[in-house]
Amino acid sequence: MAEHPAYPVGLRLTGRRVVVLGGGQVAQRRLPALIAAGGAVVLISPEATPSVEAMADAGEITWERRRYTEGDLTDAWYALIATGDGEANARASAEAERHRVWCVRADDADQATAWTPATGHSEGVTVAVLTTDVKGRDPRHTAAIRDAVVEGLRDGTLVARHHRTRTPGVALVGGGPGDPDLITVRGRRLLAEADVVIADRLGPRDLLAELPPHVEVIDAAKIPYGRFMAQEAINNALIEHARQGKAVVRLKGGDPYVFGRGMEELHALAEAGIACTVVPGISSSVSVPGAAGIPVTHRGVAHEFTVVSGHVAPDDERSLVDWPSLAKLTGTLVVLMGVDKIGRIAEALVAHGRSPQTPVALIQEGTTAAQRRVDATLATVGETVRAEEVRPPAVIVIGEVVNVGPPAARAPKPSRPS
Ligand SMILES: C[S@@+](CC[C@H](N)C(=O)[O-])C[C@H]1O[C@@H](n2cnc3c(N)ncnc32)[C@H](O)[C@@H]1O
Repeated sequence: MAEHPAYPVGLRLTGRRVVVLGGGQVAQRRLPALIAAGGAVVLISPEATPSVEAMADAGEITWERRRYTEGDLTDAWYALIATGDGEANARASAEAERHRVWCVRADDADQATAWTPATGHSEGVTVAVLTTDVKGRDPRHTAAIRDAVVEGLRDGTLVARHHRTRTPGVALVGGGPGDPDLITVRGRRLLAEADVVIADRLGPRDLLAELPPHVEVIDAAKIPYGRFMAQEAINNALIEHARQGKAVVRLKGGDPYVFGRGMEELHALAEAGIACTVVPGISSSVSVPGAAGIPVTHRGVAHEFTVVSGHVAPDDERSLVDWPSLAKLTGTLVVLMGVDKIGRIAEALVAHGRSPQTPVALIQEGTTAAQRRVDATLATVGETVRAEEVRPPAVIVIGEVVNVGPPAARAPKPSRPS
């Protein structure tokens, strides 16, 4: 018989009998997808790996603890033959052939009537790659193609615009602390699909340069606000662009809900009847200390961390922060937006009981090529900030965790130079 390439097809297995022979590594790799496809999976095997056993224990598959016998493939729609016994595999695939059951054979692809493609998923699509070269099958090559396509779709370097299902609206996307590699896969994909991007000063600004020329990029800080508050003007800009049927991304630094006014924007969009999706981001409150070699918790040192806004001083009547109570905690304090007020914050903490020798680290422009770390104590930080000319944006970490890293980790290079 002439060799032809395999015909690609998607099997709809919901509720249909699928027989898997052999409970080893092959079954372990293939079972999750068969379960996800809704197949009524029956595993026939005297033994199984612990992971496969867990699937049976969880009721995801039915496990018959025995060897294959003639007739097991009766009524099956699909079979995966993967026992360690070549002779049993041959008998099973002969039975599959007689009963017209499409079957994959792990030990001999030539004898199989079906091949498993290299598959991957990205937001609503399955990418499946099969070789057309029947004799020279190269599973690593097909897997590499699959990886390249899925990776490209995820990070937006491969842009496949939606034509039917895409609904206009706004995505509030947390862009992470600044390093363009630290945005989520979903955030990056939405960015690649956007018509309009309204971006903050903080966050992965380098990604904006990669956007195609037709994408309108608007600097949130430059939206004229005349008789409105700046935030109201941003809300209006989001609403206006979405009403024009455009896909709008509101790109924010860190996470949209950590001192990011994300919920205010969500409310404004909801009131205007505009669909909005929120994509979490890596907050600078944890990632920037980490990038400077500081874990916000450490066994035996800090069992809690508290993230506080320092944009108003402790004695300011607008402050909602209970500084006297924070001073009594022994864990880590992370202060955002606190560069200008850190001297007064340190005084308040010491006045209410925190040791003046408590270590403090200020990390400016964390995760970017300009990252810089300056160390001090509560007693010295006010003066150090002035002397070292520390500027926003900076994350300030207060607590013993500042000193738990090895010396070399205290001044690490950012992960990706720009
Ligand atoms: C308005 S808040 C937004 C926080 C953001 N939503 C988040 O989750 O990271 C801005 C503050 O975050 C901190 N920040 C954000 N990105 C930073 C970075 N790359 N390096 C240092 N501090 C940063 C600074 O304290 C800055 O003043």
